[in-house]
Amino acid sequence: MRKIAIAGNWKMYKTQKEAKEFFIDFLPLVENTIQDIQVLICAPFTNLPFLVSFTANAPTNLAIGAQNLHWADSGAFTGEISAPMLVELGLKFVIVGHSERRQYFGETDATVNQRVKAAQKYGITPILCVGETKQQRDQNETEACIYSQLKLGLEGIDQENLIIAYEPIWAIGTGDTCATTEANRVIGLIRNQLQNQNVTIQYGGSVKPENVDEIMAQSEIDGVLVGGASLEPAIFARIVNYRATN
Ligand code: PGA
Repeated sequence: MRKIAIAGNWKMYKTQKEAKEFFIDFLPLVENTIQDIQVLICAPFTNLPFLVSFTANAPTNLAIGAQNLHWADSGAFTGEISAPMLVELGLKFVIVGHSERRQYFGETDATVNQRVKAAQKYGITPILCVGETKQQRDQNETEACIYSQLKLGLEGIDQENLIIAYEPIWAIGTGDTCATTEANRVIGLIRNQLQNQNVTIQYGGSVKPENVDEIMAQSEIDGVLVGGASLEPAIFARIVNYRATN
């Protein structure tokens, strides 16, 4: 059985005060509707301890996640956070290899693979992000790009404890959503590369209340990874409370 997972990626937004205000408004909007799906908010590191305790009495399938982790347990890696540090907070999810990390912080498929392994070693589910640039899409290199990211990123990985997010880079933060049928097609191709057919595969890139129902109605898509539209409680609640039509 493939599980549905709706995740918010707050990126570098929200102080602790703002995070608290978000949850005060958000929780009542989803409390009764999220029984069968995994809902996640991946918040900045500084918010994690507070949010874990603030949501302690929320439904158990609402989880707080991190946006990155280092591959070593500890060490001289200024500015990084390790899996044991996340485990200590009780976190069960972490985004790995987001395109912004690859683009601005020099992450490669090899370091992404190491980070995925570190998460799994500590029982944390990594959300591995893959996706092509506009240029790669225009040059018909979408499939080659995705296959290469998967091959390197998934080397030696346990597919039983894994979420994948297909995020075409040109669709992130641009309002330019990938056509739902095309997202469904690429996610089907990703699934064909996996041994475990039950891996949850999300779509990400300009997901909003106006398109989430159609995205979630696609046969291969098991959830969404949401940036901008996860910052407003009512908007993200509408996404969480999506209504698939098939
Ligand atoms: P967006 O971001 O929803 O703002 O396009 C998605 C993401 O970066 O995960």
